[in-house]
Amino acid sequence: MAFSVVVLAAGKGTRMKSSLPKVLHKVGGVPMVQRIINTVKSLGADSIHLVYGHGGEQLKSTIQEDNLNWCLQAEQLGTGHAVQQAAEHIKDDEDVLILVGDAPLIREETLGALQAAKTQCDLALLTVELEDPTGMGRIVRENDNISAIVEHKDATNEQRLIKEINTGMMMMSGSDLKRWLKNLSNDNAQGEYYLTDVIAMAAAEGKRIQSAQPQSAVEVEGVNNRLQLANLERALQRRQADELMMQGVTLLDPNRFDLRGNLNIGNDIIIDVNVIVEGQVALGNNVTIGANCILRNCTIADNTVVEANSIIEDAKVGENCTVGPYARLRPGSVMSKNAKVGNFVEMKKTVLGEGAKANHLTYLGDAEVGANANIGAGTITCNYDGVNKSKTLIGENAFVGSNSSLVAPVSIGEGATVGAGSVITSKVEDKALAIARGKQRNIANWPRPTKKTT
Ligand code: UD1
Ligand code: CA
Repeated sequence: MAFSVVVLAAGKGTRMKSSLPKVLHKVGGVPMVQRIINTVKSLGADSIHLVYGHGGEQLKSTIQEDNLNWCLQAEQLGTGHAVQQAAEHIKDDEDVLILVGDAPLIREETLGALQAAKTQCDLALLTVELEDPTGMGRIVRENDNISAIVEHKDATNEQRLIKEINTGMMMMSGSDLKRWLKNLSNDNAQGEYYLTDVIAMAAAEGKRIQSAQPQSAVEVEGVNNRLQLANLERALQRRQADELMMQGVTLLDPNRFDLRGNLNIGNDIIIDVNVIVEGQVALGNNVTIGANCILRNCTIADNTVVEANSIIEDAKVGENCTVGPYARLRPGSVMSKNAKVGNFVEMKKTVLGEGAKANHLTYLGDAEVGANANIGAGTITCNYDGVNKSKTLIGENAFVGSNSSLVAPVSIGEGATVGAGSVITSKVEDKALAIARGKQRNIANWPRPTKKTT
């Protein structure tokens, strides 16, 4: 059956103490509200209405979704008032799933369970039992049947003992919702239009009300301050780490692994501690990632080893390569298979051919390095003259001696050799040797200076 979603995200989030609207704070590298949108999209929602209040410009520039219906709630008069802002867009014959924008860990499976409950009744509520339900709306049951939700501030002492609480997520038909919304009043402890008042209205009409529960309470936990944000971040990270381990990834310490995006995996991957994976990353079979690496939007093919403290960003690493320790592959770096990049080597917009090596202390920018070329320690491609970037071409099997500067645009031919310490400013032909450095002069029996006495 068709269903639409209303996401309530107009609250200011004062306790975040931030210039960023609360729902734009990120969990797992994704803004909270985006996470919720992604979840309901995969659930197959027909339309999504986002009720927003603060930071509209920031929200709209960050959340770029084609089919999102933006509903402004200029003044925050309560959750019922918030849903009223979307009412005109809701069809009578569709189901409406209401979610809160600041509970980012809700899972598709749990919303599926809420949907399934709705097929058995008229109003389905997602509820959870909390050891400490302080501040939450309590689920009031009569003979086990849900009859109302009472907000903490309006509850009697007896009702405050109830541990089953309203998560704020519920589902009902569009026609019921719109009829009930019209009858809300703000005659309560907070002077707000409570969405939760629709429960008693439904019960009074004799509607069937059922509840569903999440697998774990963190799924419905909201974020009001940065402490809660950090707690949910840890919970999400642990959930993701557990999933990866169940899919066959070895994480040497699942509590010291962060995934802020999507990770595609092959078999037998080993990831050491303090690795951060961001954006879209794919790792092939038998890939090993050393401690303290950052992998951002990159692919790393089978049997490659990335040693500790390396950073790989917008780059492609082929099969059977070694990277690092302490290597930095910047955007546009490509390592072909069997290539090697060692410590303190930086690459940018550079293709390293099959089996090519740059083992130590090197900068390769805007360069093409042929297969099996050897780039000596301390080689620098001088690709920038202060205004323009220029290319360096290095042929197959070339050998660049240590501490050479290759002043681009320049090319080194196939099988050519550059003597150590050279500053190369013009083309080196295939198989040629280029030496471009001051000639050594020895002075025999040279007396060292001695300390002056005054
Ligand atoms: C609400 C529920 C409570 C439930 C709790 C779960 C009501 C009256 N109470 O309480 O039963 O236990 O959530 O967290 O519904 N919002 C708007 N516009 C508004 C007010 C709120 O968009 O005018 C949004 C907020 O941004 C937030 C959500 O609605 O995403 C919940 O609002 P919040 O103020 O946190 O509600 P609570 O008082 O905590
Ligand atoms: Ca809340």
